[in-house]
Amino acid sequence: MPKVTINEQVYEVPAGRTIIQVADEAGVEIPRYCYHPDIGIEASCRMCLVEVEKLPKLVPSCATPITDGMVVRTQTARVQQAVRYAMEFLLLHHPIDCPVCDQSGECWLQDYYMEHAQHTSRYPGTQKTRRIKATDLGPLVKFDRERCILCTRCVRFTRNVTHTGEIGVFNRGHAAEIAIHDNKPFDNPYSGNVVDICPVGALTSSDFRFKVRAWFLKGTNSVCGGCSTGCNLRIDHSARALGGGIPGVTATEGTIYRTIGRRNVEVNKSWLCDEGRLSFHTMERWPRLRTSRRAESLELILPLIHESFESIRSVHGQDSVAALGSATNTNEALFLMKKYFQGRVDFRLGSETETYQQKQDDLLRRVDKHPNTHGALDLGLAGNLNGLRGLRALAQSKQIRGMWIAFHPQLVGEDASEILADLEGLIRALDYSVVSTTHEFPWTSAATVLLPMAAWAEETGSYTNYAGRVQITNRAVAPAGDALPLHTLMSTMLGLSGVQVSTDPSAIFDWMARETQGYTGLDYTALGALGVPTAQETETVR
Ligand code: SF4
Ligand code: SF4
Ligand code: FES
Repeated sequence: MPKVTINEQVYEVPAGRTIIQVADEAGVEIPRYCYHPDIGIEASCRMCLVEVEKLPKLVPSCATPITDGMVVRTQTARVQQAVRYAMEFLLLHHPIDCPVCDQSGECWLQDYYMEHAQHTSRYPGTQKTRRIKATDLGPLVKFDRERCILCTRCVRFTRNVTHTGEIGVFNRGHAAEIAIHDNKPFDNPYSGNVVDICPVGALTSSDFRFKVRAWFLKGTNSVCGGCSTGCNLRIDHSARALGGGIPGVTATEGTIYRTIGRRNVEVNKSWLCDEGRLSFHTMERWPRLRTSRRAESLELILPLIHESFESIRSVHGQDSVAALGSATNTNEALFLMKKYFQGRVDFRLGSETETYQQKQDDLLRRVDKHPNTHGALDLGLAGNLNGLRGLRALAQSKQIRGMWIAFHPQLVGEDASEILADLEGLIRALDYSVVSTTHEFPWTSAATVLLPMAAWAEETGSYTNYAGRVQITNRAVAPAGDALPLHTLMSTMLGLSGVQVSTDPSAIFDWMARETQGYTGLDYTALGALGVPTAQETETVR
């Protein structure tokens, strides 16, 4: 392997990398605007210039491959002066917008000015070129032309990632500007990613802008629950364990303000689809179910539920009680559900098991709009209960009399009306039904007991994506009202049946891994921020 020296430190790295890639892996900071690892190289901003021994000129580190014996310096006076000049050039006509710019607090111009420039402008503010502000590029993206530094990240995203090519650089020299071809709306299903990658406040999100200042937000790494791909994302929210946060807003429950793509080259590179990006708004579609609507507390209701299931079993036999989980429940919740209901658990509402590996397009989206169908299958929950339809038939023929139904609404798209009708029919056919769910859905009205359940982003656990990669979904905000994660409810139910189980998802995962084919040898802490493949992983996104 070639050896390269960066700032007097020697690194041995695989051939074919560029200097900036090696520096990133080594933790050596090189400023950049146009470079992004997932969109192709342009080398236009000149922020990443470095000195290479024996080369007369500074070279752009984003476009220069390493060679064996190369000696690179990133901190010399020549490099620092070049970066200062690049910054001065980029800021020459930049508006003095920071106080009113939505990117403020997370703008690379602000950060690099403080770190690498701090020059005094030689250009009078009154003579800056004015350009059009805040126009709609498409339904999700607003464009402020005078803030653009022409890094072309957005152009290369549409050219090289979505292959839709809507955005281009028009005109030349001082007149060069970003625009969309034929003024068609920029509305491809992945349009929101250009907001994530624009390093300045030129592209902002119509959904997020001016809702909250970036410095009031806390980011929690998690996984999208919108389909079986399981894209990695960061949830930006206002929840604080110890108060504080947004002035005038109580911080305990917290509000989700946006989600941002989080890089995982094995799953989604840096991207999210727009539906997944905005799927947290699904939580606002119906009123949240915040209480059980009963006089007793949950501590008293759960023992009553356990007694009811036991009495049904004693009169009608062990098989008269069953459960229906959801492919949006975590592995941990489904595993404990399987334990409590002695294997009589299914999770299929519709055709998830046929579609969970099917692509909806060539990039990320999958047809199955549940994040954990693979996990539920690994747990063996697609058995002879034959899904929702089968359970309804068993309830109608009185072979099943008591059930726990855990329901999460689809975060992307709509649950089919036939599925909701089947759920209602199932509840009506049962003698005794417990429905744990997230919102007040009309079809739950006939349930014997209604329990508030934590939604996506309100619980921690693992999902297994369509390819068999196990990833952690993290709690970002507190569950609404009295709601609890299903794994906590199931842990209590198991305790009532005499099996003491921790409510800690990591302990439950480790127990599950010991008993589940393909998961043996995995441990929760090793899942880390990017997840790990199970022994059954079949495919990765490239
Ligand atoms: S709009 Fe943003 S991403 Fe696109 S070229 Fe301008 S600065 Fe770069
Ligand atoms: S492709 Fe699926 S997992 Fe990825 S962001 Fe979209 S809905 Fe979420
Ligand atoms: S990051 Fe290398 S030239 Fe822009």
